[in-house]
Amino acid sequence: MTKLTDSETARLHPETLALNHGFDPWLSEGSIKPPVFLTSTFAFKCAEDGKRFFAWAHGEGHPPPRREMGLIYSRINNPNLEIFEDRVAAWEGMKDAYSFSSGMAAIATTLLATHQPGDEMIVCAPVYGGTDALIHHFLKRFGIAAHFVPAGPDAPARIAPLLSPRTRSIFIESPANPNNRLTDIGALKALAGRQSPAGRVLVIVDNTMAGPVFAHPARVGADIVLYSATKFIGGHSDVVGGVALANDDTLLHAIAQHRAMLGGMPNPYTAWLLTRSLETLKIRAEQQQRNARQVAEFLAQHPKVRKVCYLGLLSADDPEYAIFQKQHSGPGSLISLHLHGGEQEAYAFLDHLKVIKLAVSLGSTESLAQHPATMTHSGLAPEDKVLGGVADNLVRLSIGIENADDLVWDLGQALEHA
Ligand SMILES: Cc1ncc(COP(=O)(O)O)c(C=O)c1O
Repeated sequence: MTKLTDSETARLHPETLALNHGFDPWLSEGSIKPPVFLTSTFAFKCAEDGKRFFAWAHGEGHPPPRREMGLIYSRINNPNLEIFEDRVAAWEGMKDAYSFSSGMAAIATTLLATHQPGDEMIVCAPVYGGTDALIHHFLKRFGIAAHFVPAGPDAPARIAPLLSPRTRSIFIESPANPNNRLTDIGALKALAGRQSPAGRVLVIVDNTMAGPVFAHPARVGADIVLYSATKFIGGHSDVVGGVALANDDTLLHAIAQHRAMLGGMPNPYTAWLLTRSLETLKIRAEQQQRNARQVAEFLAQHPKVRKVCYLGLLSADDPEYAIFQKQHSGPGSLISLHLHGGEQEAYAFLDHLKVIKLAVSLGSTESLAQHPATMTHSGLAPEDKVLGGVADNLVRLSIGIENADDLVWDLGQALEHA
């Protein structure tokens, strides 16, 4: 076996790198899979090494590439975290990634690392209920204010008059959770650059709903990309994790420093599980997408269903279609459906599902269904539910890898009760 050169590595695809990148078997007895480095601390060969590694971790001197920096302590660095981070960065084609113990840890740490008291955020709504609470309630206590505008093709026009010297970031989910609305990331980047050519206004994209197979927000202008790795990346509903990625060294250093201070890194076994899951990410996501297309087409013609929001059903004359074509290579597997009626009809439908499980979360091998207005987004203020389209008749489906005909059968029998 001969080692790949850097230029050979650079031409490989993420699904190949997901099996090889960032791990040298010969550093671990020839083990094909990375062992779990269950250690809290690492031995220094000499005291000078310890001094140098700490100085590099503080950003002093001329640090070597991150992977050549010595290992110190598992809150700061650990081989399992680094292997996972190298492979996620390869999926996104971004300079570097930092892993976290949850998506919320990634989002909260990144926002604390990049904002100061007095700064303002502009948020395209809806966003996941936890993120909404973080911004509305928690960050507000630290003097960080936020303006919310509805996500969608009109968002850039609504954001333009809100930009000011205080604006530090524009935050969006792509697509938005739970209504699948798309916002033009390139247009947001152009607005950010117009407000501050020096790059003060950051475009931050939570790409959890699309996942790393079908959308790469940094390629169209995002400065920071965030994930709940609990979803497509982990993909089996058996692990909670998060990721923050950036290309800019200053941003990456700020995120690393804040992760080390706040302590939101994953444990080595979590990082190992996430690394294992990356190996099957593409085949899972593609199968989920194939199933979701069949399910969405079935739902779209069902008399009990008022409207289906699925990226694969956007028509060419829909203003979101052009955004979809720019930002996505596929529609993914998240479907939002509006039933005729309200909460009562939505609950009757959910309570009669037999194969699809009634549970929050998304992106896993099994299909899940939930009622955002009273579950994931129940904490939103009534006016924010209206702004974000989180209606009582809305059900969010995350489609898994089961047989698609079985899913269609299950949905059909449950809709009889709606
Ligand atoms: C879009 C989105 N971002 C972030 C999160 C938070 O992730 P976690 O539950 O891993 O903290 C979620 C959780 O559902 C989500 O849907």
